[in-house]
Amino acid sequence: MADQYARDGVDDSPRMLPVLRWEEPPDGAVVVLLDQTRLPADEVELVCTDVPALVRAIQSLAVRGAPLLGITGAYGVALAAARGYDVEESAGLLERARPTAVNLGYGVRRALDAYRAAAGRGEAEAAAAALMAAKELHRQDAEASARMAAHGLAFLDGLFPGGGHRVLTHCNTGALVSGGEGTAFAVALSAHRAGRLRRLWVDETRPLLQGARLTAYEAARNGLPYTLLTDNAAGSLFAAGEVDAVLIGADRIAADGAVANKVGSYPLAVLAKYHRVPFVVVAPTTTIDPGTPDGASIVVEQRSADEVTELAAPVLVSAAGQDGPSFGGRRTAPLGTQAYNPAFDVTPPELVTAIVTEEGVLSPVTREGVTEVCAKARRV
Ligand code: MRU
Repeated sequence: MADQYARDGVDDSPRMLPVLRWEEPPDGAVVVLLDQTRLPADEVELVCTDVPALVRAIQSLAVRGAPLLGITGAYGVALAAARGYDVEESAGLLERARPTAVNLGYGVRRALDAYRAAAGRGEAEAAAAALMAAKELHRQDAEASARMAAHGLAFLDGLFPGGGHRVLTHCNTGALVSGGEGTAFAVALSAHRAGRLRRLWVDETRPLLQGARLTAYEAARNGLPYTLLTDNAAGSLFAAGEVDAVLIGADRIAADGAVANKVGSYPLAVLAKYHRVPFVVVAPTTTIDPGTPDGASIVVEQRSADEVTELAAPVLVSAAGQDGPSFGGRRTAPLGTQAYNPAFDVTPPELVTAIVTEEGVLSPVTREGVTEVCAKARRV
């Protein structure tokens, strides 16, 4: 396919604002988030002074993506502790904010465990312990991201020794979801830095356009050769022989290796199987949930019909003076239309060529293999 359809990225933008930072101004601790509902039009920060604000940010997707949800959950517990809110109740609110990404509960519990363990030494000590746990998770996620990028690139290079990888990705898996450079996107980025990324195909990712709004934004900032496509165009792209590998992230990986990720991932896996293209999942071990036995046991978040019956682009105006997300009211379907709007789908392990974690590459994907990875990462 001719590259005149492509828009090559340019790397002349200033550095992105931090996706999440902790601050302690004189009037109390805050969690500051880069509001992802406003990207790419505006880089605006959202200052959360309490846990309900953080929960709203999670539910509106101002902050999103599995690893970052874990980090946010941990800082949320630290925020509750620092501000003297009911920490146990706050932890519950945070953990229940969204159901599918296992990292959210993992991050919340890590900070909560640290808080509880230090509770005997007084409130201030317990709050400091929760914050230290959040910072540690943040740092570890950055480290995991770098290791996944290295393992993932080595795996791609092994599959295609000549380099020049043409990678298709879905949703957003870069620095916007991570303490580091992300998961699947971090692999594409390191391929690019090594001079071995020929093209990053970016699925727009209906209905909330994480691919168009966020992955294209990150690809442009990093100077990647990228091309945006509608989700529906992936089939003809495979048929044209333009995809060497699919790289996606994950929100939860069950004990049998089934992968929940942004809705639209499973159809890509089916396409990849038919066209004999490797389907590679890149996720930190914190995304593996040994307590979920299989794909059927994964709870898939169902979201509002408005996201489907109204144009998604107005998500960008969500913060313009309104409480919570608004989809702008530009209807594309008649009033009263019902919509099926799962946020995720589940890909069975037999369609997954490999799972890349910070511990290495699991291929083929088996229940035993997943157990071994968990043991290595001390996640049981
Ligand atoms: O609904 P979102 O935007 O939070 O969904 C995010 C995804 O599905 C990502 O692909 C997933 O969290 C992996 S990010 C490393």
